[in-house]
Amino acid sequence: MVSLANKALVITGASRGIGREFAKIALKESAFVTVSARDTSKMAELFSDFPEDRVHIVAADISHPDQAKQLIDAAIHRWKRIDVLVNNAGVSMRGNFIDLQSDVVEKVFQTNTFGTAYTTMYALPKIIKSEGSVIFVNTISGVVGFPGSSIYSSSKMALSAIAQAIDAELYQNSVHIGSVYLPYVTNDREKVIIDSDGNEIHHQRKAKISQYQAALLIRKSILRRKRRIIFGFLGKFAWFINGVAPFIADFILRTSRGSIHRITKSKTS
Ligand SMILES: NC(=O)c1ccc[n+]([C@@H]2O[C@H](COP(=O)([O-])OP(=O)(O)OC[C@H]3O[C@@H](n4cnc5c(N)ncnc54)[C@H](OP(=O)(O)O)[C@@H]3O)[C@@H](O)[C@H]2O)c1
Repeated sequence: MVSLANKALVITGASRGIGREFAKIALKESAFVTVSARDTSKMAELFSDFPEDRVHIVAADISHPDQAKQLIDAAIHRWKRIDVLVNNAGVSMRGNFIDLQSDVVEKVFQTNTFGTAYTTMYALPKIIKSEGSVIFVNTISGVVGFPGSSIYSSSKMALSAIAQAIDAELYQNSVHIGSVYLPYVTNDREKVIIDSDGNEIHHQRKAKISQYQAALLIRKSILRRKRRIIFGFLGKFAWFINGVAPFIADFILRTSRGSIHRITKSKTS
């Protein structure tokens, strides 16, 4: 594939951030794009520069299986096929594990892991038919268990296992299953993450790449049918070391705690 032109895409979490940037890239290349989020009130304006017959907006909370199914069904109804599913919707958290309330675990897993599993299982039959792609937008903290980010890390690690298993199950079907492991990306000001009490908080920190650069990596994964894209030397190093010598990864995480993720002092200490 040399471009996304005339491909039918479903992009979850396209109302902000990386999902919005990738949707714009796909629309500029004349793809047919179903864009989705829970709150779609601003999405018509967001994509108003693009032809109406290329943009399809669907409100869905993917953490509910029935809504994830409605999203996929709506895209199939609109485009008559699905070539690419970009599983981008996600929610992040910060806080030491010992301080976490149970609803933090639920909220993060419900969107990042369960929601992504639902959209994927409902879209797969069509993607198998079109010999298309399923993309999992992952993170370097889905490679190793980041301190202060335990539930986010583990919810994303689960996606690596899902991707690997589907790839093996379907390897004779010419389906592409890709995972894109991103570093810190620029955040929209509206972005919220969940703190240890389950409150939504705004969170800004220094980014390694822009949303546009992240979106280009997703595009590269689709066009080149890459199974894994891990951004940067540190990401690749983390992947390698955790695989071959996890005790070195443990040492680095223990000793650089705080410089990897700035975390607050535990409430219980
Ligand atoms: N930003 C980073 O530094 C970074 C780094 C590595 C990986 N990533 C991953 O990249 C992806 C996008 O990150 P981002 O920074 O662009 O996030 P973001 O700005 O918070 O956007 C998240 C998007 O997902 C949607 N969403 C959240 N929960 C949802 C749900 N239950 N059902 C449907 N849609 C939902 C949001 O819209 P609504 O709230 O309206 O639903 C929004 O459109 C995530 O998977 C994240 O884990 C981000």
